[in-house]
Amino acid sequence: MTLEKKAAKCAEYIKKHTSALVVSHIDADGLTSAAIMGKALERAGIDYKTRFARQLDMQALTEIADRNPDLVIFTDLGSGMIETISSLKLNAVISDHHQPHGLYEHHLNPHLFGINGATEISGSGVTYLIASAIGGNADLADLAIVGAVGDLQHVKHGQLAGMNRKILEEGVRINVMHYEKDILLFGKQTRPIFKLLQYSTDPYLPGITGSEDASIEFLKRIGIRQHGEKWRRWIDLEPAEKKQIVSALFQFGLSSGMPGYKVERLVGEVYTLSREREGTEVRDASEYSTLLNATARYDHADIGLAVCMGDRDKKFDEACSLLNEHRKNLVEGLNLVKERGIIQMENLQYFDSGNKIRETIVGIVAGMSMSFVNNRNLPVIAFADSDGGVKVSSRGNQELIRKGLNLGDAINEAAKAVGGTGGGHDIAAGAFIPRESKQEFLRILDSKIGLQIK
Ligand code: C5P
Ligand code: C5P
Ligand code: ZN
Repeated sequence: MTLEKKAAKCAEYIKKHTSALVVSHIDADGLTSAAIMGKALERAGIDYKTRFARQLDMQALTEIADRNPDLVIFTDLGSGMIETISSLKLNAVISDHHQPHGLYEHHLNPHLFGINGATEISGSGVTYLIASAIGGNADLADLAIVGAVGDLQHVKHGQLAGMNRKILEEGVRINVMHYEKDILLFGKQTRPIFKLLQYSTDPYLPGITGSEDASIEFLKRIGIRQHGEKWRRWIDLEPAEKKQIVSALFQFGLSSGMPGYKVERLVGEVYTLSREREGTEVRDASEYSTLLNATARYDHADIGLAVCMGDRDKKFDEACSLLNEHRKNLVEGLNLVKERGIIQMENLQYFDSGNKIRETIVGIVAGMSMSFVNNRNLPVIAFADSDGGVKVSSRGNQELIRKGLNLGDAINEAAKAVGGTGGGHDIAAGAFIPRESKQEFLRILDSKIGLQIK
């Protein structure tokens, strides 16, 4: 069977029901997944409600089961909790891309078809396959791409690959998406150009990142002009000016000793939602996904979902103000890591943010900190205080994965060993563990990772 055939089976099963509860994850991929499924159900005339979970644990599942739903559709989560889902005897469809633990009838997961769920298809992508099989939903390809980009699935190859690429091409064919090679710095649609440099964390531009003055100085030195008082946005620049900035950044990177592969990461494929207005937060897939993270990761999934469902009015404005907060928090989080430093063990490095970084964004901060840590040969583990325990986030890189790193497995096993739960992908994983078991957890994780990469 292929992934598409299995998606068709899930679609058939869904169509047998008259109402459903969609349960999804609180990030960009989870929101777009929920929106894709919501639209598909709406169009098929199936009643539905949506609910979001920070993580799908026993408590969340029991609450869901207590509602006695006709059908539960799990999107962007579920594959790690199959045993419990089975034991609760729910009528359920699981549409997920996390590493699966267990088997289930209506379970769509790329890993079961030899497809990598960290790089080739996201939760929104598999959910899009089901929506397509339900029929008449090809136009939702743009949301599927936003989810994939939100999970950083384009990073490995500098462009979307595998099933993601198929979905992208479908979106291009029906004119909801287009893509091109461009600078990868964040904010091309919406921010004055110096901000792109100032907030560049991947790659980290020594002497420029973090400094407004240095960023402006850099642009002035290479002859990029302001228009009156105002700095233009990237999309307002002439092609020649864009070229000039890119080549100056390349030179800057190389002359400040940055390795070639990092410098090359300045340019790559960027994905544009053709139906969205230029210069808005939802025109570029990467900016869109950040806007969504700024809602769901702060207990405002309803706002992000409304944006995905098409609100460009009140909810959209609310999302944009949340975005400002989110950006501030990320910058503060990164500064905290730089100040406190990272502690190295044999096979990992970690920081503990205590209650200074929200547990829902500590993983993003851990990922961004990868771009300035001294040792790129060790995965970054991060802790954040959480209700009733500690949230763990971890991030690796492709080099480590080639050596055998699988954070999803290592974290899953180490968390279990101390009475917690966790899982995820080879390159990024997370867990919840009891507060007092941090050191024990680190010790076990360090040795598990050691076994993987040796
Ligand atoms: O929960 P979910 O699967 O949606 O999240 C995937 C996570 O993996 C994202 O937080 C993303 O930042 C991370 N990731 C990463 N580097 C990659 C691919 C994914 O940090 N190259
Ligand atoms: O929370 P964070 O962004 O660090 O999560 C990284 C990856 O690990 C995500 O794909 C997330 O869904 C997954 N994860 C998990 N179980 C947890 C926590 C995170 O599968 N308890
Ligand atoms: Zn996901």
